[in-house]
Amino acid sequence: MKEFDKVLISKEDIEIKVKEISKKISADYKGLNPLFVCILKGSVFFTADLLRNVDTPAQIDFMVVSSYGSGTTSSGTLNIKKDLAVDIKDKHVIIVEDIIDSGNTLALLKEMLLKRNPSSVKICTLLDKPDRRVRDVKVDYCGFQIPDEFVVGYGLDYDENYRTLPDIRVLSREVYEK
Ligand code: PRP
Repeated sequence: MKEFDKVLISKEDIEIKVKEISKKISADYKGLNPLFVCILKGSVFFTADLLRNVDTPAQIDFMVVSSYGSGTTSSGTLNIKKDLAVDIKDKHVIIVEDIIDSGNTLALLKEMLLKRNPSSVKICTLLDKPDRRVRDVKVDYCGFQIPDEFVVGYGLDYDENYRTLPDIRVLSREVYEK
């Protein structure tokens, strides 16, 4: 059985793009000591690579969240499986995601974090699938816009597999339709 249709984004292209985003963020947040919020598990590699290249002092924390319910209203619910360990009041927060799909998770998460009175909240995602969006969400830093295909690797999974691949690949239909 063929597992992957193709490599969508190579390891080299990821590396170049991540460095580009790090550079932008470093300039934008110079002297602001931002807090990067890594949304586990998908964004673990992206966050680590991004922060390795950020050259202004910064902090890091982790959350595990999922969303259910959808639609264009604010009726969706955010399930917080692991909350932040630090207080974000008066901090400049950058949420780091691997992918934005419907937009539900990020929209709800941003709304929730804003209630904790941070100085600012911005969103940084490696991948964006605009075709799947059901809820508006402002993406401040984006690596790649991708078509509506099932992608895995570099943190992204199917049934918890494939996260450790170094590149981003399109999963073959045979795998998830069997
Ligand atoms: C993925 C991704 C986002 C969310 C995006 O997480 O990391 O959190 O889905 O989808 P949405 O825009 O439709 O809300 P997932 O629940 O797969 O968890 P994981 O990061 O642990 O794989």
